[in-house]
Amino acid sequence: MTNFKRTTVTSALPYANGPVHIGHLAGVYVPADIYVRYLRLKGEEVLFIGGSDEHGVPITIKAKKEGVTPQDIVDRYHSIIKKSFEEFGITFDIYSRTTSKTHRELASDIFRTIEGKGGFIEKTNEQYYDESAQQFLADRYITGKCPHCGNENAYGDQCESCGTSLSPTDLINPKSAISGNVPVMRETKHWYLPLDQHEAWLRKWILEDHKEWKANVYGQCKSWLDMGLQPRAVSRDLDWGIPVPVPGADGKVLYVWFDAPIGYISNTKELCDSQPEKYGPWEKWWKDEDTRLIHFIGKDNIVFHCIVFPAMLKAEGSYILPDNVPANEFLNLEGDKISTSRNWAVWLHEYLEDFPGKQDVLRYVLTANAPETKDNDFTWNDFQARNNNELVAIFGNFINRALVLTQNYYAGIVPALGPLTDYDKQTLEEFVNVKSEVEKLLNNFRFRDAQKEAMTLARIGNKYLADTEPWKVAKIDMDRVATIMHLSLQIAANLAIAFEPFLPFTSKKLRTMLGMKSFSWNDLGKIDLLVAGSQLETPELLFEKIEDETMQVQVQKLLDTKIANEAANYKASPVKENVAFEDFMKMDIRVGTVLSCQKVPKADKLLQFRIADGLEERTILSGIAQHYPNPEELVGTQVCFIANFEPRKLRGIMSEGMILSAENSDGKLVLIQPRAVVTNGVEVK
Ligand code: 2FM
Ligand code: ZN
Repeated sequence: MTNFKRTTVTSALPYANGPVHIGHLAGVYVPADIYVRYLRLKGEEVLFIGGSDEHGVPITIKAKKEGVTPQDIVDRYHSIIKKSFEEFGITFDIYSRTTSKTHRELASDIFRTIEGKGGFIEKTNEQYYDESAQQFLADRYITGKCPHCGNENAYGDQCESCGTSLSPTDLINPKSAISGNVPVMRETKHWYLPLDQHEAWLRKWILEDHKEWKANVYGQCKSWLDMGLQPRAVSRDLDWGIPVPVPGADGKVLYVWFDAPIGYISNTKELCDSQPEKYGPWEKWWKDEDTRLIHFIGKDNIVFHCIVFPAMLKAEGSYILPDNVPANEFLNLEGDKISTSRNWAVWLHEYLEDFPGKQDVLRYVLTANAPETKDNDFTWNDFQARNNNELVAIFGNFINRALVLTQNYYAGIVPALGPLTDYDKQTLEEFVNVKSEVEKLLNNFRFRDAQKEAMTLARIGNKYLADTEPWKVAKIDMDRVATIMHLSLQIAANLAIAFEPFLPFTSKKLRTMLGMKSFSWNDLGKIDLLVAGSQLETPELLFEKIEDETMQVQVQKLLDTKIANEAANYKASPVKENVAFEDFMKMDIRVGTVLSCQKVPKADKLLQFRIADGLEERTILSGIAQHYPNPEELVGTQVCFIANFEPRKLRGIMSEGMILSAENSDGKLVLIQPRAVVTNGVEVK
């Protein structure tokens, strides 16, 4: 849409069954916030809607586990999540919840309207029912054996061991997770949204009219559409949710994915109804053709936002459809999928305990590494490097030099601009382009490139100071120094504007130091943002270096989680029969240093080690090749081996001993290595 009057921006409503982590921030909330801040800075009319998704089965399961009510769970996490977003500067106009009265009423109204127009079909089918608990079982409440991998504890919707999507009837020996009893099949009636009837217009609307959508979003929609759409149930047999608002629906609630996206609308309504003079009637944000609707989400939500929700809105009949859905892929953590249940995450509230005041560092790193086109990895190493080499060494360094030099030469007063040299003019030309480049990228939801481009300003500033060397010129020509510092300060002011969407806390600090009262996106590229003669504040450092020790603490924290998870998943085998001390002493276990290590040709599993064993050298073959793809990295490390293990020939090579490894619960073999260097040949006791 090119001609629009206003923009409604929504960001996925996170489930209120746990705190939020870096994956949430990187995938949805930081990009949405950058976009909204940018639009606001441009003076556009924009509304930014957030809130908690407080229905759904996982919340009831958590409540049951803890022996509390679902309401207790959502009350707890709604406030934790809301606080985290506030602390990270996510500037929602409203952050409400799907248990609000406004939401219940609006979701019910929309259901009734669609129902009244004949927009649903009713179907009766058989579902698992727990007779002792007297309730139908949600897919998650049924466990059994996975038909694919044999895992005994697969859920009715998915096997977490092999990752296969299941339906409850796929499970072998199904059991109710509530009572442990075998469930029976019982008939139940549900309301379905007949997506098949919407397929034709959806195809045209997405595949022809929205070719500009991100490739990952367009591609996922195309594959759903090409598979053919099926009717989807929009009700559930559950005691937590919004009751299906029509007669004859006792014990049934709206499916969480029916009510959650309506949460965007009800939160808008709640906001507009409470401040009508500021926001106007809520309908203008959802029903006016001049309004552009943008949904920020993660890739697992694409089908709901591009197909199901638009079909609901179309069936209702009075709403606009999304103009764009810039969904992101996933962020992994140190090579593994982020997981709430395995505690494999950097939680936002914990990050702030460990790095108080460093919200912008995380915002910067998550944007620099955003999973915009493919899954990406967050590592503490990269976090430290980007902080030290980019924020400190480029951005912070330039600002600090510009401000401290002004302090030293002009007591912090902006000096007057004198005649410009050709070099000054060339520098200004370079930096004037940055505005249009950043804009182009932001308009296309390419936040990581946009931030990179904005960083060019700091690079230009650094180069300008390094090339003009005001500290040398100061000895001969203070008029020239005045011009250099004047221009440097104007570049600093430009940085404050360009980074407001990305690093709002830093931008604010910088604006205060520069004494910038008002500012707007349109000021970007100008060199009269600061007036000669105005007084600057005493400079403060914007960023500080992060030391290796600090990172080590975080890496250790993750390692501890890994160990705890291993322990939780692993059932140790029973201890073998006792051995006498003399028998144990018969084994000669020693430490040696790896001199060389390579794969044995034509043997998948074998590594050939050459070991310095304290006496001379020996060759040992070990069947761990698949677990050490880069065996040369083991050279120089120490290993433990049985020195008196009877020599034997493998693949024509004599192996003189056995190297000790531990087999992990996932089948990975890990070498047993001393924690500190010891003398080769010493015995292990
Ligand atoms: O995937 C999720 O976390 C969902 N709670 C997102 C809902 S988005 C919207 F529909 F509310
Ligand atoms: Zn399985």
